[in-house]
Amino acid sequence: MKEHKFEFQYEIYNDSSELKKEDAELLGKARAVTKYAYAPYSDFRVGAAGILVNGEIISGTNQENASFPVGICAERVLLGAAASMHPGIPIKTIAVSYDSDNVSTDHPISPCGMCRQALIEQETRFHQPIRLILSGQQGKVLIIRSAVSLLPFAFTGDELE
Ligand code: THU
Repeated sequence: MKEHKFEFQYEIYNDSSELKKEDAELLGKARAVTKYAYAPYSDFRVGAAGILVNGEIISGTNQENASFPVGICAERVLLGAAASMHPGIPIKTIAVSYDSDNVSTDHPISPCGMCRQALIEQETRFHQPIRLILSGQQGKVLIIRSAVSLLPFAFTGDELE
């Protein structure tokens, strides 16, 4: 028997003023697009903004549904928009933020399990990591180098070959 350990490194910033300009702008966009979320059931409005390797900026917001499981997270809306509007161009970095009238928005949230799986699909497809910038409307910012760090032992298409 051998024991293994899974570790990953991430960066923590006190607030967005400590970020590089491109990252601060992307996070600003993620914070701003929360207003386009359709979240009448949770009142939890999530915004995602992505920069592609060619510099194009895209965004996504959560879109809920009266039939709750039909709702889709901001991250997967963004992935679909990127793949449809800029086919074949990998995403370099995605910033995720949120807003709400009911809960405080001063700390980062991280993508749900289904979105982690979807992010890893894109990383595998393009053989390229997606950096994640996570923060609320203000306060701490986390930067994670690759979505795969968030889902150890992920199932990928490699298993199907
Ligand atoms: N949600 C996202 O869009 N992204 C996340 O990272 C976490 C959760 C959405 C799903 C649902 O519309 C609402 O937030 C509350 O869970």
